[in-house]
Amino acid sequence: MKPYNQSNNNIPELLEKFDRVRSQTVKLTEPLERDDMMVQSAPETSPIKWHLAHTTWFFEKFILEKYDKSYVKLDKTFDYLFNSYYETAGNHIEKINRKTIAKPSLETVMKYREYVQNRIVDLFDKNKGSDEIYKLIVTGINHEQQHQELMLMDIKMNFFSSPYKTPYTDLEPDKAKASDLKFYEFNSGLREFGTSKSFHFDNESPVHKQYLNNFKIANRPVTNGEYIEFIEDRGYSKPQYWLSDGWDTVRSENWKMPLYWEKYNDIYYYYTMSSLREIDLNEPVVNISYYEADAFARWKNMRLPTEYEMEAAYNEINDYVDSNSMESNLYHPTVNNLNKFYRFSGVWEWTLSPYAPYPGYKTPEGPVGEYNGKFMSSQMVLRGSSCITPENHSRNTYRNFFHPYDRWQFSGFRLADDL
Ligand SMILES: [Fe+2]
Repeated sequence: MKPYNQSNNNIPELLEKFDRVRSQTVKLTEPLERDDMMVQSAPETSPIKWHLAHTTWFFEKFILEKYDKSYVKLDKTFDYLFNSYYETAGNHIEKINRKTIAKPSLETVMKYREYVQNRIVDLFDKNKGSDEIYKLIVTGINHEQQHQELMLMDIKMNFFSSPYKTPYTDLEPDKAKASDLKFYEFNSGLREFGTSKSFHFDNESPVHKQYLNNFKIANRPVTNGEYIEFIEDRGYSKPQYWLSDGWDTVRSENWKMPLYWEKYNDIYYYYTMSSLREIDLNEPVVNISYYEADAFARWKNMRLPTEYEMEAAYNEINDYVDSNSMESNLYHPTVNNLNKFYRFSGVWEWTLSPYAPYPGYKTPEGPVGEYNGKFMSSQMVLRGSSCITPENHSRNTYRNFFHPYDRWQFSGFRLADDL
């Protein structure tokens, strides 16, 4: 085992971040009542109590179990209950059954969090660490940040599913007019994509070249007002705009508008984390599937951008503005009327790109091998970040991915086309 590489690894900074991110996870539960933390309102969601435990299990399983020989587990059954999908780490409970985990109690889960957290800090203090441990802790911190976003997605779904439509926050974004829609044009050429620098997930590498044809891309995502035009044009009833699987989903799920939308007396409302309220036409449309984004683009006689076009725009447009992140405590995208290029627009943006390995990608050994690589099938890439993504968790090369029918994530899209 190599000693710490003190020149590259800033241990006090890492421990401070570890503590801050772990505290942030707990802080997200403050507006919840105890019973809220057991709800699993849809198969794609998980109880908040499970998120609290699973993010802890990640540190226990992949760091303490391997590197701290004196470590004693609080409860060996946690391996079964709080492993998500790491087949090489042993058996695990079916996702849909996470709502049955009445025991351990919330108190025990919180004790588990503290126990593991202290042992990770001890591991550093005893100087038993290595570059490998350092990297795994960085991965664990980023993993926990991803779960913070998942927790907020799941809370929104859980609260919406209840007739009480409970608000999670009192804060609402300020009103503003959306920037005028304009398109940035790009010349064809061979460009470099991906990253090898600083922390990144394996799916963002290796760095490689890709040729792009001439293209144009919108300065901002599609707004609610623009999307309502599609609905009012009976877009959900016209199969010519829909992919075959999308059309099947529209009919089987009886989709007529985005998730969390409702219509009364010709007025559109949506459930946000603060209220059930009339829709703001200027905000980016959010909580829509790939199928809906794609159908809208076809209705406009345009298309979605590829993930490469998105990354090229991020890299080459210098005068950009970012929307709000989780730290704004709004949990809803804000509107910016600066008429600049929106880089991170407050919504994850669907791209035309299937989630597949980059050229030269090799599935890493160890737990990271199951982190991203095994999902490279039947999902689409989303770029950017959303209003519930932690601020320092975003980057130009980040590749998020969901199934084309998923829409409980904070997803929107922008238009693009060939030139
Ligand atoms: Fe996870």
